Amino acid sequence: MEKFISTVNRLEGVIRVPSDKSISHRAIILSSLASGKSEVRNFLKAGDTLTTLNSYRKLGVRIEEESRVIHVYGNGLFGLKEPEDILDMGNSGTTTRLTIGVLSGQSFFSAVTGDDSLRRRPMRRVVDPLRMMGAQIDGRNKGNNLPLSIRGGKLKGIEFHNERSSAQVKSALLLAGLYGDRITTVVEPVISRDHTEKMLIGMGVNLQVEQREDGYRVSVSNVEKLESMSISVPADPSSAAFFVAAATIVKGSEVILKDVLVNPTRDGFFKKLKEMGADIEYINIRNEAGEVVADLVVRSADLKATKVVKEEVPSMVDEIPLLAIVATQAEGETVITGADELRVKESDRIKAVVNNLRALKMEVEELEDGMIIKGGQKVKGGTVDSYKDHRIAMGFAVLGLIADEGIKIKDADCVYISYPEFFKHLQELSK
Ligand code: S3P
Repeated sequence: MEKFISTVNRLEGVIRVPSDKSISHRAIILSSLASGKSEVRNFLKAGDTLTTLNSYRKLGVRIEEESRVIHVYGNGLFGLKEPEDILDMGNSGTTTRLTIGVLSGQSFFSAVTGDDSLRRRPMRRVVDPLRMMGAQIDGRNKGNNLPLSIRGGKLKGIEFHNERSSAQVKSALLLAGLYGDRITTVVEPVISRDHTEKMLIGMGVNLQVEQREDGYRVSVSNVEKLESMSISVPADPSSAAFFVAAATIVKGSEVILKDVLVNPTRDGFFKKLKEMGADIEYINIRNEAGEVVADLVVRSADLKATKVVKEEVPSMVDEIPLLAIVATQAEGETVITGADELRVKESDRIKAVVNNLRALKMEVEELEDGMIIKGGQKVKGGTVDSYKDHRIAMGFAVLGLIADEGIKIKDADCVYISYPEFFKHLQELSK
């Protein structure tokens, strides 16, 4: 599907963007391993999280929806069943990497694959430490690419330095660590999103968490069982980001985004934009199921250029393409470095942003690990490619709102991966 986005007078209104993708994945995965029935309210029904739900059904877990609540009848840590077929993880890196961690603790055989994008993405980052723990994992390119086969069982505890601060790697190892013979510790130079830790603690696991000089350390050991959970998933800050950016750059706008997760490991984009001069207010700040949630009030504002360095990347990793797009409207030159992880997301997001800005006749310099973006650029418009990457499609839709001749986005239906209602919400807020 192609989508054409053209200029609007302003954005105005109140919406609740869809629920958090990271928390929705983890709620299904962890409650599948719990003893007893869990309830997940406000589960995100989008491509990636439905992949997780279907995968755990194929692993023998009864998961039912009843009056908008997902009921997960947990099988316990040792109750998953050998799947009858290869598990297809679609486009979802989170389902894949976390589930490889879970499968490493199971004594049965399983195999996982995914779509063209997922089959290109690196898996050694989880495969190597899981092999060190004792899992037998095979696959293409020495185990770096799907399809992969896993034969797990009794695991050894390890200490692992997660130099990329990848939450998927950390979570995979903490999940496998539940089956370890001794403590498993993950050390990160900068803390990555910590939803797995929060949920495990809520399920009765005695997790050790420490902030030291050399970084963040989290340790888990073998447990007998996980308590079931009852959780309500807040709105996704990575989805809210598109409307925060849009309301900031479209003059005369004011939008309210309800119920947004503002966990400090996730709200780096909002903080960075505020530093640049954006008018973003957190109101009604509250705590829900161990997570901090707020309503966001955003009004349009003039922006100044910024710098992003490596340590800042984890808390805004999925929003960096959007930050680069917004930076074309700031005063001065924005320099983003330390973001080489963007090269191995659903698409090469540095290339995707650079190619698309150039297709729109805008100026940007590509760096190995980031971009240099010229500010104060006029947006004439033209055609861009989503590269079948949901966040690239939505990012360029935001730019379309200020493009003189509008922006046509190829393969825009990929928004379904995290935000199926995106274009509908955009229309509702456009005045
Ligand atoms: C996620 C972690 C991040 C992020 C992804 C979701 C998660 O990936 O980009 O969209 O839910 O754990 P990395 O762990 O590769 O940084």
